[in-house]
Amino acid sequence: MQALIVSDANVDALYGAACEAALRAQGLNARRAVVPAGEASKDLGRAAALCSAAAQAGLDRSSWIAALGGGMVGDLAGFVAAVYLRGVRCLHIPTTLLAMVDSSVGGKTGVNLPEGKNLVGAFHQPQAVAADLDTLETLPEREYLSGLAEVVKYGLIYDAEFFALVERGADTLLLRDKALLETVVSRCCEIKAEIVAADEKERGDLRALLNFGHTLGHALENAEGYGRWLHGEAVAIGMAYALELSCAARGLPRAECERARTLLRKLRLPVRRDGGAALWTALRRAMAADKKTLDHKLRFVLLERIGRAQTGCDVKDNLLAEKWHVCCE
Ligand SMILES: NC(=O)c1ccc[n+]([C@@H]2O[C@H](COP(=O)([O-])OP(=O)(O)OC[C@H]3O[C@@H](n4cnc5c(N)ncnc54)[C@H](O)[C@@H]3O)[C@@H](O)[C@H]2O)c1
Repeated sequence: MQALIVSDANVDALYGAACEAALRAQGLNARRAVVPAGEASKDLGRAAALCSAAAQAGLDRSSWIAALGGGMVGDLAGFVAAVYLRGVRCLHIPTTLLAMVDSSVGGKTGVNLPEGKNLVGAFHQPQAVAADLDTLETLPEREYLSGLAEVVKYGLIYDAEFFALVERGADTLLLRDKALLETVVSRCCEIKAEIVAADEKERGDLRALLNFGHTLGHALENAEGYGRWLHGEAVAIGMAYALELSCAARGLPRAECERARTLLRKLRLPVRRDGGAALWTALRRAMAADKKTLDHKLRFVLLERIGRAQTGCDVKDNLLAEKWHVCCE
């Protein structure tokens, strides 16, 4: 049986050969395809080239595509697995914390267009996800911390006990302690799987819970140019903003808002955009253009308490601007 391992140049150099050997030991005739590292590789041209590589390697309907890497590789290779021969089996082998706790679970795949991120894609669930925590040892510090933002998000939107566990273990998590990471990564995957199982294609409101902090986070990435912020950093600022909105519009107690901000800071994540006041017009425009808006109306995920979130919240425009300025002072 044929398998194509898709990876980026950084990850292939570290783990490509070992992954190929492991799949061969399972009886798969595995080959590797490598793309340059970085978000620019997540495009239709690269997806087409990988489809050709799959055809040239003789992949048929019984074959596998394995995505070895972070979320960029997962989205790209997952998309190729969704469209090549109208769909072949996909195995995710995430190597960033963000990919382990978020992008490898849930079946969203896709590529970017010049007009925006993730504008072309498909839902294609992986057959399996195999995360080896040892690969996190080589992950650059900033990438690791960025993944922790999504970890905090799960506690905030879904599980107050899990939030408290992350709070208690923050120092240990910063040291990348394996035992704690195993608990944390497993619980994040469980939460994401529960939410996705109830609303796989985001038809209802439930899957939208996962967008907590992302409305502003995506807008910040967009307005400041991709590359300035890592995804998790932008989401951390977006969560700090959503926490402020939650206090003002949903009755989140101020003490809980401060608890959440303190944890983000402890995990060395940004919670403000110093000097960002002048960005408001661009941010407001980018939020309105987000593909998740309905009829151009902004809908936020806000918290009533830590662990209890509400989707579809409508927030007055003057409050949106006021709370952004709080995040910049
Ligand atoms: N499908 C989803 O549900 C979903 C969810 C969230 C994010 N995403 C997507 O995920 C992407 C971001 O993913 P990411 O943050 O993992 O970034 P990434 O895949 O670009 O990886 C970040 C960097 O880390 C390097 N790297 C990866 N693993 C490594 C390791 N173990 N050791 C050393 N270096 C390593 C990579 O080469 C890259 O330079 C974005 O494209 C985003 O749109 C998708």
